[in-house]
Parts: sequence; structure tokens; C-alpha cells
Amino acid sequence: MLVLLAGGAGYIGSHTAVQLLDAGHDVVIVDNYSNSSPEAVKRIAEITGRPVRAYEADVKDRDAVSRIMQENSIDCVIHFAGLKAVGESVRKPIEYYRNNIDTTLTLLECMNEHGVRNIVFSSSATVYGEENPYPYIETMRRGSCSNPYGWTKYMMEQILEDAAKADPELSVVLLRYFNPIGAHASGRIGEDPQGIPNNLMPYVSQVAVGRRDHLTVFGNDYPTPDGTCRRDYIHVMDLADGHVKAVEFAARNKGTEVFNLGTGTPYSVVEIVEAFERNSGVPVKYEFGPRRDGDLAEFWANADKAREVLGWTASRTLDEMCRDSWNWQKQNPEGYGN
Ligand code: NAD
Ligand code: UFG
Repeated sequence: MLVLLAGGAGYIGSHTAVQLLDAGHDVVIVDNYSNSSPEAVKRIAEITGRPVRAYEADVKDRDAVSRIMQENSIDCVIHFAGLKAVGESVRKPIEYYRNNIDTTLTLLECMNEHGVRNIVFSSSATVYGEENPYPYIETMRRGSCSNPYGWTKYMMEQILEDAAKADPELSVVLLRYFNPIGAHASGRIGEDPQGIPNNLMPYVSQVAVGRRDHLTVFGNDYPTPDGTCRRDYIHVMDLADGHVKAVEFAARNKGTEVFNLGTGTPYSVVEIVEAFERNSGVPVKYEFGPRRDGDLAEFWANADKAREVLGWTASRTLDEMCRDSWNWQKQNPEGYGN
């Protein structure tokens, strides 16, 4: 299949591109590099030994996306092209709604124009909101999101679901990611956040490589075993494998299906730091600080549906996640900026 990766130069998109190519599919990447680098595209080609077609374009630009679909006979779209920083979304809600909703509408309009029938969407565990018990199951009610980023995911899920209801030919797969970490085992592609990282693992690895002095652990008075928050961390390569399964499933399905992509096992912030130290051999200085606004004490996935329907399970261990994150960070201390 020829898969259009909107936002395919980013962290999850680049790893998915590698796994799609290795599974024998072809990819076309569209990215405006607002949060990524063309260097990632070169490295996808280097890892896979396959040429990668990439367009620098804004996915909100309908003419550009239409032209790309005209030039390439696309079988499936994966929509990664979102702004994703939770705190920034609180400060810049309009930018987040504009980018995330507009990219989705533009992709759907162009798919309709060019007869593309399958779309896989990067959603998030954040759509389960603040009120559901864990582990989260796909059938739970969505909503009560704690920030505009979360609401964009909620709204985009709704838009896609409505589009599939109205068009019996359309196949929509909503993938709700838990907490992706890790990198390709080669260390050639990985997570390269701009500025100060918001997320735990890039922060930890930047402390280890000497770019930051210490990690602040946000809160140690949560009702969890060691008082720090627990999350369902998943290796980005397992997540990428989930996308290969989802694309293949989308091609044989109609309507909307939702899948959690997580491991089903939570780890605390302190457990992550200790696992990272064990696997890198580098101490990571940390201090306990106040809770971060909007953080939930803990949540994790029930990933049974993905196993039963897609035949997918996350197989890589926490040690592999830490080892691969460190391998990427130490080979690329400044990310793709090197
Ligand atoms: P990322 O920022 O590394 O990748 C997103 C890519 O989209 C970037 O390359 C960026 O340049 C591009 N992009 C953004 N807006 C664009 C536009 N208008 N036109 C063209 N390109 C555009 O993020 P990621 O971690 O790879 O996440 C991918 C998707 O998964 C996002 O939608 C994100 O919200 C979602 N997600 C991520 C996580 C996570 O923890 N990383 C968790 C849940 C969901
Ligand atoms: N944390 C720290 N210090 C830091 C960064 C994070 O202690 O410097 C803690 C957080 O408090 C949280 C845990 O590490 O307990 C994980 O935090 P992340 O920011 O890495 O991830 P979140 O669980 O907050 O958010 C992630 C994605 C969101 C997504 C959400 C739910 O970043 O996009 O999962 O899926 F919405």
C-alpha cells in the first residue's frame, strides 16, 4: 500500500515510516517541519535503504495536499500532523484548534476529492479525561479533557467518526496512544523536542547527556505506591508496529474502530529514572517539586482489543525503552541539530 504520512517527519511518524517500509509498504511524507527536521527523512531512507518521497507543505493548505494526492495514488492516510504540547495549548488555544482541526478537515476533504478511503488517526489517552477509572477501555465515555490539546483530540475523533457515518466507503481507525518513549535501535532517529522538553523521557535523557542540570519530579504525594505518577510507557517501535497493523486493518474495514495502544503496565516517574540509570550507566539527578497542573495520578491501557482485533501487542520491555532512548540521545546530543 502507498501510505501518506501527514506529519511523518516527527517522532512517531518517522518510526512508523521505517516499520511501514520494512513491512513492504511505500510512504509519502508531508510535513511543514514546524516541529521536526528534514534530516529525519534522510535517516528513514538511510535505515531502510529505500527512497522516501517527502513534501514540505502545510497540511492545512488544501491546494498543496490535493496536488500531493493527485501526484500519488494514496491507499491510506495516517494523520500525525498535530501540535501536541499540553501547556502550550493552554496558552495558545486558538493556534491548537486551528492547526489540529484544520489539518483533519483538509485531509478529509482531499481524501474525498481523490477517492482515498482509509485514514488512521493519532489520538491520545487524554480523551478519556479526568473521570474514568483505569485501566482505560475503548468503550468508555470520552470527555472532561483538562486542556485544549485534549479537546482537539476529542473533537477530531468526533469529526472523523461523523465523516465515516456519512460515507459508507470510509474506514477510520482511531489509535489512542499512551506514553511513547524509546527510539529506533540504530540510534539514527528519535525524539527531538524543541527547547525545554515537556515530556519525561526526553527530559531524563537530556539530564543524562549534560544538557540539563536535574529533573524535577512533579509531585511525590500522589496516592500511588511510591507517591509519584504512574503512566503506561510504550516503546515507539511497538507503537509504529501498531500503525502497520492499523493500516492493514483499515483497508479491510469500513466505519470507525478505536484502539488503545499501550502495554497495560504502569511505571512511576521514579521507576523510569531508576530504569534509565540502570540501562545507561549514567546517574540522573532529580529533585521532588510540586505537582504539575492537570496531571492525573495514574492511568494505563486495557490493550485487549488491539490484541484481539489487530493481532498486535507491545513486546518491548522498559529496559529496551530506556536503552534505546539513551542510545539515540548519546549519539545525537543536540538531536537532529547536530
Ligand atoms: P511530533 O511533533 O514529533 O510530530 C508531529 C509532526 O507534524 C511534526 O513533524 C510537525 O512538524 C508536523 N506538523 C504539525 N502541524 C503540521 C501542519 N499543519 N502541516 C504539516 N506538518 C505539521 O509529534 P509526535 O510525538 O510524533 O506525535 C504525532 C501525533 O501523535 C500528534 O498528533 C500527537 O498529538 C499524537 N500523540 C503524541 C503523543 C506523544 O506522547 N508523543 C501521545 C499521544 C498522541
Ligand atoms: N514528569 C515529571 N517531570 C518532568 C516531566 C514529566 O515529573 O519534567 C512526570 C509527569 O508529571 C507525569 C509523567 O512524568 O507524571 C509523564 O509526563 P509526560 O509529560 O511525559 O506525559 P503525560 O502523561 O503528561 O502526557 C502524555 C502526552 C500527552 C498525552 C498524555 C495522555 O505528552 O500528549 O500523555 O496520553 F495527552
